[in-house]
Amino acid sequence: MSEIDNAIAAPATYADEARIHALFAQLRKEDPVHWTEPEGFRPYWAITKYADILEIEKLKDNPDHRAYRGLTQAWFMPPNLKKLDARMAELAKRYVDRMMELGPTCDFTRDVAMWYPLHVIMSILGVAESDESLMLKLTQELFGGNDPELRRQEETPGVNTNTIMEFFNYFNNMTAERRAHPGEDLASVIANGKIKGEPLGDLESASYYIIVATAGHDTTSACISGGLRALIENPDELAKLKANPELLPTAVDEMIRWVTPVQHFMRTATDDHELRGKTIRKGEAVQLLYMSGNRDEDIYPDAFRFKVDREPNRHVAFGYGAHVCLGQHLAKMEIRAFFAELLKRLDHIELAGEPKRSHSVFVSGLKTLPVRYSLRAA
Ligand code: HEM
Repeated sequence: MSEIDNAIAAPATYADEARIHALFAQLRKEDPVHWTEPEGFRPYWAITKYADILEIEKLKDNPDHRAYRGLTQAWFMPPNLKKLDARMAELAKRYVDRMMELGPTCDFTRDVAMWYPLHVIMSILGVAESDESLMLKLTQELFGGNDPELRRQEETPGVNTNTIMEFFNYFNNMTAERRAHPGEDLASVIANGKIKGEPLGDLESASYYIIVATAGHDTTSACISGGLRALIENPDELAKLKANPELLPTAVDEMIRWVTPVQHFMRTATDDHELRGKTIRKGEAVQLLYMSGNRDEDIYPDAFRFKVDREPNRHVAFGYGAHVCLGQHLAKMEIRAFFAELLKRLDHIELAGEPKRSHSVFVSGLKTLPVRYSLRAA
């Protein structure tokens, strides 16, 4: 199995979609709870079946987590997000307009999909528009630490010390500023929030900003790029969606399942646990491979088909349980707003070059998607 073990841990494998999916399909069939010993890494359990991912996600976590999550949870729920509906539609229009201006060709990932969720999350958090390029650069370095093009050149591949320091310096200044002058943005909620009656420390508040600033855009933009690619490669599905815009919510969930930009999360066992006849020991690392769970043949008999009207579709792209993605409603709202605007104005679209995925085991997606198209004015 050493060849498989090295492949699961190698960022380059994830740049080749067919290869990684074939590898996971083999593991789901032959060894779904797989002890993985890649060269150069601490060994871990690779979990590839949907039901097993859910079982592990349901196990308990430290209660501190709930208190931290509680600080912003209400903010991320649909009743609060509804206020952003009109603003989101306006932003979606801004980025589809940009695409139209660039036409008849563009690199959809680099010119459009990367910028729209970045702008949404940064304006919500309260980062100045002039700092958005810096935030994008730091996020890509953090998640693309192994990609030869995206990583920070002076760092050892996979190590991100300088990037993290730069994030911390930026956000520590933000905390001080929001404590002195609280506003309506999410940064003010975090800077002025209290846990057990105490304000958050510098490490905690900066970490909170970093997770919101980084979790919210690369992931969503990967779904928008990968979703558009899936529509281009499945013209019947594109036609169906254009003719039936009420399918947009199911289409968005299918895009998210299809892309699964957060390919896995790691957990550490806090107790011994039996799974499919194997014992995961306390202290061992466990890799929940969402990307594999979302193509599990036991849940989706036609898992390798992209269907805009797929129902039910309870995918695990957002995780599950206590840590389930806090931004899932926001992400879906953004993707819906974008495709509602795009599809209304799109006459034609095709690939204009080869799409390429980034080299990353954690968050990945298309780093380039060249397209040729014709769009109408709004
Ligand atoms: C389609 C886009 C997105 C995907 C696929 C995604 C996926 C995920 C996944 C898999 C997790 C871990 C769940 C687990 O450990 O069980 C997570 C956590 C999280 N996500 Fe997202 N996410 C997306 C968009 C967003 C957005 C827009 C935000 C907004 C800020 C966000 C904020 C968070 C936060 C704060 C957490 C940590 C939650 C916790 O540990 O309690 N995500 N996300």
